[in-house]
Amino acid sequence: MKKYELETLCVQSQENFEEGESRVYPIVQSTTYNYKDPDYVAALFDLEEDGHMYSRISNPTVAVFENNMALLEGGVGAVAVSSGQAATSMVALNLCNSGDHIVALSTLYGGTFSLLSSSFKKIGINTTFVKPDSSIEEIKACFKDNTKMFFTETIGNPGMNVLDIEKVAAIAKEMEVPLVVDNTIATPYLCRPIEYGANIVIHSTTKYIDGQGTCVGGVVVDGGNFNWDNGKFPDLVDPDPSYHGLSYLDTFKEAAFIAKARTHVLRDYGSTMSAFNAFIYNRGLETLHIRMQRHSENALKVAKFLENHENVTWVNYPSLESSETYEQAKKYLPKGGSGMILFGIKGGAEAGKEFTRNLEFIKLAVHLGDARTCLLHPASTTHRQLSEEDQIKAGVLPEAIRINVGIENANDIIKDLDQALRKLKVKN
Ligand SMILES: Cc1ncc(COP(=O)(O)O)c(C=O)c1O
Repeated sequence: MKKYELETLCVQSQENFEEGESRVYPIVQSTTYNYKDPDYVAALFDLEEDGHMYSRISNPTVAVFENNMALLEGGVGAVAVSSGQAATSMVALNLCNSGDHIVALSTLYGGTFSLLSSSFKKIGINTTFVKPDSSIEEIKACFKDNTKMFFTETIGNPGMNVLDIEKVAAIAKEMEVPLVVDNTIATPYLCRPIEYGANIVIHSTTKYIDGQGTCVGGVVVDGGNFNWDNGKFPDLVDPDPSYHGLSYLDTFKEAAFIAKARTHVLRDYGSTMSAFNAFIYNRGLETLHIRMQRHSENALKVAKFLENHENVTWVNYPSLESSETYEQAKKYLPKGGSGMILFGIKGGAEAGKEFTRNLEFIKLAVHLGDARTCLLHPASTTHRQLSEEDQIKAGVLPEAIRINVGIENANDIIKDLDQALRKLKVKN
């Protein structure tokens, strides 16, 4: 289906249909399915037939969304889950056992940082965090014999640093572990990490894929481009006693990782996406390309305005020439830098609070990827659980404001920000 451009895939990749079926793929609100032949059901349980048996493991509406995401990201398959956190957990639980190790960037979303540094530690999976601008040698030095994945974000939330995907992909390849990229902020419209060597892509679909602030969800996409038979991943290669000795690699070939993610992690841990949420996401994908264009255009205008404002001390936005990762943005985000900006407000945290109270239509909200402009103060919200030292390592300074630039008229967004900034009673 690669013969079509991404914009066409967003709108038209939605479903296969039979004669006379509904134009929009419906919500199949059913936990279970009908069968005529008991041998067919047995074959489903043995993974010999590809069909639906129980909606914890798969559902037709969810499958449409999964196929769309795999197509848009250029992967061989996808599993939709109940949240972005569940997507990261699924990847880790599919690759790591107790005693294993992960390498991750220090600039990750606060929830992912807590998951890796605290929750996984409690079940015996430890993570070494490394700054994205470290040298190749410094990054390589973080890997151990028991390292099972390298976890990164295309655009760091909220630092807005753009990943040098080819650099980290080359390191991961040399270290023989899969490169996992959280592509939530970029979306496949702005960047497709698998094309640059990533092996697994995850999303919090709660953000731009939805775009309306209605559903929490996530997805894992398998690039199908990693050699699992390198001695480090026996669970993907050796016989699985819970499926009568089946080998995922022998049976599912390049889709081994995603097959095990569904039949093992989703089956056992149960972080399922509902059919209703998948239906909403299928609608969201139809306008993803248009929204990401407008988010990016508006955010660049707002970033330029903020850069010149007397009450703003600094601005991080990928497509600004002043961005520390501008070269990466030009290479990996040629269509735009997405909708999120991090900026420092003169007067620090107190001025930040005053500023948010001064806003007219822009709302204070713990969200991003929404069509409606909103903002928050990461140090006291999304990154609150981190120590001040870890906050700073993640690029979160006390004076930082994270704004999700929506798809309204850019001049109105700028006017609201300007009037709220001008009212500040900050001392210079
Ligand atoms: C980059 C990124 N990854 C993952 C997550 C977690 O996603 P969710 O809130 O859907 O669990 C978030 C949430 O803000 C995020 O921004």
